[in-house]
Amino acid sequence: MMKSKLEVKNVTRRQFLCDAGKIAAGAAVGLGSLGLVGCSTTVAAPAKEKEGEKEQTAATATNAKVEFPAAPWPYKKLDPEVVRKAGFDAYKRGLHCMGGSFAAIIETLAKEVGYPYEAIPVEQFAYYGAGGVMGWATLCGAANGSSMAINLILGKDHEKLGAAINEVLGYYSTTKLPTAQSNQFGEFKNQAQSVAGNPLCHASVTNWCKASGKKSFSKERAERCAKLTGDIAAKAVEVLNQIADSSFTPVYQAPEAITDCGSCHTKGGAIENSRGKMDCLTCHDDHRK
Ligand code: HEC
Ligand code: HEC
Repeated sequence: MMKSKLEVKNVTRRQFLCDAGKIAAGAAVGLGSLGLVGCSTTVAAPAKEKEGEKEQTAATATNAKVEFPAAPWPYKKLDPEVVRKAGFDAYKRGLHCMGGSFAAIIETLAKEVGYPYEAIPVEQFAYYGAGGVMGWATLCGAANGSSMAINLILGKDHEKLGAAINEVLGYYSTTKLPTAQSNQFGEFKNQAQSVAGNPLCHASVTNWCKASGKKSFSKERAERCAKLTGDIAAKAVEVLNQIADSSFTPVYQAPEAITDCGSCHTKGGAIENSRGKMDCLTCHDDHRK
């Protein structure tokens, strides 16, 4: 029973992708990378073949291509408040933190811009980030999914992407979350706020449990993470909006430990045995004291 339901779902998504591919072929966009999907012939190519040929053609043409434009992708400024709510809702839809934040941005762009965002199989891409990558509590999924969306939009301009993501992860690390805005969503309003210190799910959840007195596997904690999903996606969109306007001015200041400890331990330092932008003092003591 379950199986046939899933199959129906997959066929629909594939059909959707192939249709998007047709739209792509007709649109005047710079063509870059090619995404492979198995499209049925009747969808990918004009259905000219006669009844008898159908079977054979279907077998040989399962690798039709959906064409995606080269980065950077067309971006239209979004309302961060719409995206905040979309992130909360997507989490609640069962996408968790990474899928939820990615969906909040990509699905809103699909509505506003259409192709190529509508061709992204959102739910299939970003689910793995749940619980800081399948419960490992490493990078928070809200930060991960938002960063993936930023990457799709900005492409691999290392400096630009680094600056945008720096701002989002810095915000994540230093801001009291959930924000006052997202704290109005859902069943538990005005939940305790906490600062993660770094973008790790582990630190984020644990500090929140300390602040709220709630358990890490409670309904309240899930609700709080749904709010963060919206909050971080909204922040990502704020940054993207500023970049679109050429008005992006980073506000996040790296903690002193990065340059202080880094003067010996990171690139160019006497020891150079470490790297990173997370605040060293959220995990280490200063051995000079
Ligand atoms: C002036 C250079 C210098 C600075 C600045 C410095 N360290 Fe170190 N650190 C060292 C040296 C030297 C060692 C010993 C290395 C070894 O034995 O391989 C060390 C060892 C460590 C170790 C491993 C063992 C231990 O003693 O705990 C950690 C962790 C560490 N440093 C973190 C930090 C952090 C965090 C900061 C900033 C708060 C910092 N260091 C600042 C030079 C420095
Ligand atoms: C999220 C926690 C975390 C943060 C943040 C962090 N570290 Fe570490 N660091 C670790 C862990 C875990 C290890 C491995 C310790 C071990 O296995 O004994 C480590 C190891 C080290 C070591 C080697 C220690 C040794 O025994 O030789 C150095 C040096 C170090 N870190 C420096 C830094 C510096 C500098 C920063 C800031 C730029 C930093 N760390 C940020 C968790 C962290």
